[in-house]
Amino acid sequence: MIFDTHCHLNDEKLLPRVDEVIKEAKEAGITRFLCVGWDKESSLNAIKLAEQYDEVYAAIGFHPENIFDVQDGDYEELAKYIDHPKVVAVGEIGLDFYWHKDPVERELQKEWFIKQILFANEHQKPIVIHARDANQETINILKEYTPKHGGVMHCYSGSVEMLKDVQKLGLFIGLDGPVTFKNAKTPKEVAEEVDINMLVVETDSPYLTPHPLRGTINEPKNLVLVVDEISNLKNMSKKHLLDVLYQNSNKLFNLK
Ligand code: NI
Repeated sequence: MIFDTHCHLNDEKLLPRVDEVIKEAKEAGITRFLCVGWDKESSLNAIKLAEQYDEVYAAIGFHPENIFDVQDGDYEELAKYIDHPKVVAVGEIGLDFYWHKDPVERELQKEWFIKQILFANEHQKPIVIHARDANQETINILKEYTPKHGGVMHCYSGSVEMLKDVQKLGLFIGLDGPVTFKNAKTPKEVAEEVDINMLVVETDSPYLTPHPLRGTINEPKNLVLVVDEISNLKNMSKKHLLDVLYQNSNKLFNLK
């Protein structure tokens, strides 16, 4: 049993054939999916999929790249769904300094990040964190506004040293496709060093397709490639690794 803790079944590249995508993933052993939103519409679509499929859960929130397009009332409208039984996290939220260099935009991202952390705390939900070219700033905010119900550093791109900070905050590390890339030194080191009890796996599909399928649209079924690579890097039996990952994922999202 494998939990894809971060996928975008609600993305236009997957949504039109979601039935087949889920079926093929289940055949490959992926039994649970967290479908993650990035704005109001995608979050509402994540909830719809979670209502439609038993094995799909939803995360709702505003991604740092998408906060600039939020319309009046969007936040309030989405917030109403936080206590929906299949909504298990707030996300993805965070900072993206790769695409946004302007200090005013970065300030706005920080405000939205903090607002959504506090919202998750108020509603007893974990958070799904996106941090790109902003790992230290993200950690700084998390230290000041600590998530009270845990969360995950999705597609962790920080250093091995920074794992200590993440562990102190009680957060999980999400690893995905890059760990399989031939030239990806840091993700491989992180996979080797990270405490197995703080690790979860994810595809971020349709993005971050693992080696050797790079160049194709990623799908949850490809998660097995990520698991295989981590099992090799950690020199750990696949069965043991899968058991621990599945337990970690359910603990992260408060599922049985
Ligand atoms: Ni994502």
